[in-house]
Amino acid sequence: MSVKILGVVGSPRKRSNSEVLVKEALEGSKLIPDTETELVLLCDKKIGFCKGCYEICQHGKVKKPCPNQDDMEELLTKLLEADGYIFGSPTYMGGVPGLMRAFMDRTVPIYYKLRGRVAGIIAVGDAQFGSQELVAQSIRTFCMSHQIISQEWPVCAVAAWPGEISKDKRVLQMAKEMGQNVAKLTAKLYQ
Ligand SMILES: Cc1cc2nc3c(=O)[nH]c(=O)nc-3n(C[C@H](O)[C@H](O)[C@H](O)COP(=O)(O)O)c2cc1C
Repeated sequence: MSVKILGVVGSPRKRSNSEVLVKEALEGSKLIPDTETELVLLCDKKIGFCKGCYEICQHGKVKKPCPNQDDMEELLTKLLEADGYIFGSPTYMGGVPGLMRAFMDRTVPIYYKLRGRVAGIIAVGDAQFGSQELVAQSIRTFCMSHQIISQEWPVCAVAAWPGEISKDKRVLQMAKEMGQNVAKLTAKLYQ
């Protein structure tokens, strides 16, 4: 049986550092036999803010369709179909950018349905100690909300310009190893 690892890139820009590192992590995942991977760039998707209706989808019980007519339905299906994840995000003003926040909030209709899946986390900022750890913590708390296991230390990277992180061989290797470990644990749990 094969396992599927889904990479989700939360950067609002193209050729992002988060994308470079999530792709590298997925390369690591592919080193584990029978692992399929898929990459999703949130910047290519239309994602509205959760309106907090609460009556519509409370604790994973979807009563009425979400009033947002956008790409989130497709993304929820991808999350449900995957066995493990690599989440990568830039740091914006000490936290995740609005796009990543909107994505995480809008997963509430599948609350309790991702239990036991595995995640690796990547955070990028342009400054050393630029709050990448808060971004990683925010994504880890999102994982905890869904009871997704995130057993690895996050990969926290420093780069400013699009794709600049490609020069940092050390952090590329860290991302690759993390992706490999995520796939290894996912395979153990699901096979
Ligand atoms: C609006 C905005 C806010 C930012 N705030 C921070 C910050 O708080 N800390 C930091 O280290 N870098 C900050 N940055 C820099 C980005 O995190 C950095 O450019 C990073 O490489 C972006 O990752 P990406 O290429 O994956 O989008 C900010 C950039 C923007 C555009």
